[in-house]
Amino acid sequence: MGLRRILVTCACVVAASAAVIAQQQVTICTPATQLTLSVSFYDELRQSCYGLKPIVKEGTSVIYPERGNGNLVYPAYGISCPDIAAIAVTHADGDMTLDFEVSGVATETIDGATITTIGLKDRVYPFYVDVCYKTWPDCDVIETWTEIRHDEEGLVTLRRYASGHLLIEGKDVWISHLSGSWADEAQLVEEPLTAGSKEIKNSDGVRNSQTSHAEVMISLDGRARENSGRVIGAALCYSGNYALRFDTRDEYTYLHHNENGTFTALAANDSGHSFYAGINEENSQYTLKSGEVFVTPTLAITYSNEGLGGVSRNFHTWARAHRIANCDRLRKVLLNSWEGVYFDVDETKMFAMMDSFAKLGGELFVMDDGWFGNGEYRRVDDKAALGDWETDTLKLPNGIDGLIRHAHRCGIKFGIWIEPEMTNISSRLYEEHPDWVIKPLKRGVVTGRGRTQAVLDLSNPAVQDFVFGVVDRLMTRYPGIDYIKWDANMPIRCQGSQYLAPDEQSHLYIEYHRGLMSVLQRIRAKYPDLTMQACASGGGRANYGLLPYFDEFWVSDNTDALKRIYMQWGTSYFFPAIAMGSHVSASPNHQTNRKLPLKFRTDVAMSGRMGVELDPTTLNESESKVIARAIESYKLIRPVVQHGDLYRLISPYEGNGIASIEYVSSDKERAVLFWWRFNSIEGDSKPVILSGLDPDKQYTITELNDIAGGKLPFEGQTFTGAYLMREGLQIPTGYTGYEDGDNYSSRVLLLSPATED
Ligand code: GLA
Repeated sequence: MGLRRILVTCACVVAASAAVIAQQQVTICTPATQLTLSVSFYDELRQSCYGLKPIVKEGTSVIYPERGNGNLVYPAYGISCPDIAAIAVTHADGDMTLDFEVSGVATETIDGATITTIGLKDRVYPFYVDVCYKTWPDCDVIETWTEIRHDEEGLVTLRRYASGHLLIEGKDVWISHLSGSWADEAQLVEEPLTAGSKEIKNSDGVRNSQTSHAEVMISLDGRARENSGRVIGAALCYSGNYALRFDTRDEYTYLHHNENGTFTALAANDSGHSFYAGINEENSQYTLKSGEVFVTPTLAITYSNEGLGGVSRNFHTWARAHRIANCDRLRKVLLNSWEGVYFDVDETKMFAMMDSFAKLGGELFVMDDGWFGNGEYRRVDDKAALGDWETDTLKLPNGIDGLIRHAHRCGIKFGIWIEPEMTNISSRLYEEHPDWVIKPLKRGVVTGRGRTQAVLDLSNPAVQDFVFGVVDRLMTRYPGIDYIKWDANMPIRCQGSQYLAPDEQSHLYIEYHRGLMSVLQRIRAKYPDLTMQACASGGGRANYGLLPYFDEFWVSDNTDALKRIYMQWGTSYFFPAIAMGSHVSASPNHQTNRKLPLKFRTDVAMSGRMGVELDPTTLNESESKVIARAIESYKLIRPVVQHGDLYRLISPYEGNGIASIEYVSSDKERAVLFWWRFNSIEGDSKPVILSGLDPDKQYTITELNDIAGGKLPFEGQTFTGAYLMREGLQIPTGYTGYEDGDNYSSRVLLLSPATED
């Protein structure tokens, strides 16, 4: 049956003879993993297996029997899927059913990636879905998405349109995901999947990682472990509203295709979980025109039998190679002006901050909010001027040029903050273009921050041009700008586009993000080397949908180092250190009022993309020394932190007041160990067992940032990787010589080849 309809077969497609097993297998391969799909006797596309590649003799393949009955790759609502579906539509004639058969399989290689496309065609309607998979030869992540189209006469309404679906087998399956709120982002949640549904979703419209995150770990062998157990990781790469859904049940309904064109629906006892990920379709029904192709966002999946850590490393490797802008170059140590001066930006202050930061060894100065707006609308607080991206000449008489010149005189680069998707209703922009903001057609605008902020309607091409122009004008006028912090501080809190047609109002969330993507693509085409940070009220834009256009993201507006240990721990489940902005800020901390030793603050910041966020002109001599020393040390370890493999050693959630992580260079020559202690209970410390080293290599240990002078017992000593991974290092828990008593201490240890000085 099905084989005749396969138009193009790829090298990975294996045909089998017996009808009890799949008629044809399609394997999606990465170096270590394999997703095996099969075309069933009824020409359905089914999922057979996802895991490590089987080890077989060259030229042979493993044929996986079809398992279960609910394992369609892209379950459709109507005939064969009465429960949750990956796709549900209303056809042009009002019918609500879909029933797909495989129409073809094709593979092609584009820019080094292999793309496998499996065509699905409805058996009755001219309605088609291409299920696409993309793999790379250098990482174990599979990217999957769908392309939906039809040739019906009239519009088809898409009610569900997931990017992908995975069947997860097993009784004791747990998920780990991130949840939080402003200043408390990326808190780890671990829970078992139990009967019923679980949904992780976002409907903010703009900031999609401030509360929940679009990534999840699925542990197949019970509660997740860091270094062992089979784990699937999934990340929906989308900047807008998303939904990750789990459906857990003990019974499937499946369909028998009868010879006479009728069907028999049967129930089977077969426990399992269906995982769906895609755009959150709530309030976003999409009417698809004949011939139009609806491309769903990419869902990135990965598999490891080395627990959560293995999945994280898979994501990090993929992200650095293919998913985050400019990861081939190391990130600079920057100072951001926000917590130093907030809106009180002025030229004298900016110059003084640059001078001090340059003396500390800094490399890039970023002027945050407060530099723009003139006349009636000046940016002296958060109530006015967003949209009026002209330099405030009272605050900055020599303009941006003057600032860039001064930065260059100091030997550092210059960066600037913008929030181009937003306006204040107290701005010239809003006066000129009130029709550019998102608002219901017959009601007033809904404002947010400062009670005056509104979101620009990026579905409107004129607004897209404007937003592109904000960056383009800055870069054209001031080519010396090296870095842009792109902020977005408001959700879409009301429904309504003044641009979209009345019957397209439910497209707003989707069109907003299409508009945003188009702007970002234009910016990147013209300014590929510009460094850009994604920020949204802190950590609201940590998502792989945005990161192809951004070099990094701001993890949180909360810079309290203790809170950061938790937030960065969670964030590291999915994102590499090179992308995580992590700054040393003042004490007491501005968000929590907590006092923390400066060394503790530097030692946490150094575990991500290190920066500084305070007024450096206020530092006394000894504080300046600590920061300068930390920056110097960071430059030494930066290649390992930013490009190395992460091993999470002791969880802050379980470590009895201790947390520890380690980065290992890809050649395993060097490693950096971070160890933080944050409560005063003594004697509760076990040795830190290292990971990921070469057992046969010799590593010499040097403490960095050892400003207290007290030597560690193993300072300067050499150990084999095998010893360090078996016995570990017993780090003294006591006072390390800094202010604030015994409560907080920290160590940064460099492991380097024994032969080096
Ligand atoms: C947001 C960002 C901050 C800062 C302010 C400026 O809150 O997260 O880092 O840039 O905006 O208004």
